[in-house]
Amino acid sequence: MIAPPSVLPTVPSHPESEAIPAEQGPRQRSLVTAMVLLAAAATALILLLVALPAARSDPYSRSTLQLAGSAETGGQLFLINCAGCHGIGAQGLVGPDLHGVKARKNDRQLIRQVVSGQTPPMPRFQPEPQAMADLLAYLHTLS
Ligand code: HEC
Repeated sequence: MIAPPSVLPTVPSHPESEAIPAEQGPRQRSLVTAMVLLAAAATALILLLVALPAARSDPYSRSTLQLAGSAETGGQLFLINCAGCHGIGAQGLVGPDLHGVKARKNDRQLIRQVVSGQTPPMPRFQPEPQAMADLLAYLHTLS
């Protein structure tokens, strides 16, 4: 006897084939969340890498600028260390005339000029913060 077609078992729809699209929503959302978090972490890392060296190079300037300098001591330091190039009266020799230099450079730039060695033949000086503050006070008197 042949079974009527209506009795033939129908192929059940695969339960998992429907479950996958249903799960894609949350899975994609968590992927997006992970990517956003990763991007935020990368941004934070870059900021840290950029900001840290700047913050580390600054304490010298900061502690120098917190000190009250003596123009008299600075003038003596200038005669010993700087006058050979800038002249006894800072009128200029090998190095430029330093009168009115405070109008051209702010304190941080003046400190960098002295400690960086970035403009040869001017050497890189490493004065103690107090000596640097004294030199700044002296440079301020040159108007
Ligand atoms: C070996 C020579 C030499 C010595 C020593 C020297 N300088 Fe200089 N200095 C120069 C030269 C050259 C320049 C110009 C650099 C440039 O901008 O190219 C200069 C530039 C400067 C400037 C910037 C001037 C401007 O118009 O912007 C300052 C400030 C300065 N020197 C301060 C000092 C002080 C303070 C000392 C001592 C601690 C010193 N220098 C010692 C040669 C010297």
